Order: sequence, then C-alpha cells, then structure tokens
Amino acid sequence: MEQTLALIKPDAVTKGSMGAILQRMEKENFRISAMKMLQLSRKEAAAFYHVHREKGFFDSLVDFMTSGPLVALVLERENAISHWRSVMGATDYRKAEEGTIRKEFATALERNAVHGSDAEDTAKEEISFFFSKREQV
Ligand code: CMP
Repeated sequence: MEQTLALIKPDAVTKGSMGAILQRMEKENFRISAMKMLQLSRKEAAAFYHVHREKGFFDSLVDFMTSGPLVALVLERENAISHWRSVMGATDYRKAEEGTIRKEFATALERNAVHGSDAEDTAKEEISFFFSKREQV
C-alpha cells in the first residue's frame, strides 16, 4: 500500500483544527500508520524544506514552521500521495477547490494548514525524516 507524509502545520494546530483534519483523514480511508506531535527546531525546518532554500520565502517559512507544535503522520491507502494532495487542495488557498482542507483552513499562501509529499521518492525521504521504522505500525 502506498504511503505519504502528512503534516498538520502550526497554524492549524494553534487554531484548534487538528481534530477536524484527523477526522477528514479517516473519512478518506487513510490508515494512520504513524503519528506524533513535535515542535521543529530551525535547523530541522531548514533541513525539511532544503529544496526551497534559495526561495525568497524560505526564512519566513522556517519562522512559521517553528512557531508552534505540528503533527506529523504517515498516511496509507491506494494512491495515498495523489489522493492526499487532492484532499488538501492547491498550495495557494485562493486557488483551492471547495471541499478541500486548504479551502477550509488555510489563511495565507504560507499558512496553508497541511503538507503532503509530492512523489514516491520524497515521501520515503520525508517519512524517514520524522519516523524511525520502530515508530511505524
Ligand atoms: P508545502 O506544500 O508544505 O511546501 C512548501 C511550503 O512553502 C508551502 O506548503 C507553503 O507553506 C510555502 N510556500 C510555497 N510557496 C510560497 C510563496 N510563494 N510564498 C510563501 N510561502 C510559500
């Protein structure tokens, strides 16, 4: 079964939207095979988003992602990567379709409530960034 790494970002956790987003994951028939809450250090956030290090929004993204606790999860189902991306909606919440998580919970381009891996190789990399084998059940 395919796996993807999902994050419930600090904006959504702080606003109290974590429960609604977890419910949506279950409703979409994802099996949660790992889950933890943690606050990233700046070094960790910079490493997680290393592909964006040259972008103008990088420092602000690191500020945001370290601003409070987040929830990291491994989601499992058929086509987990593409399905989770369609449930999240477009990165820019202004372009997100009705019924998507970002349409409902995002408040800015950066503060877009959730993350999902974009491909099989990045999913593997991102899952091992957050979880040891022992933490995946
Ligand atoms: P995510 O899908 O987690 O991956 C990179 C994150 O950077 C993205 O969600 C947004 O939170 C943020 N991001 C992407 N593009 C921009 C942008 N143009 N300005 C600010 N933040 C951005």
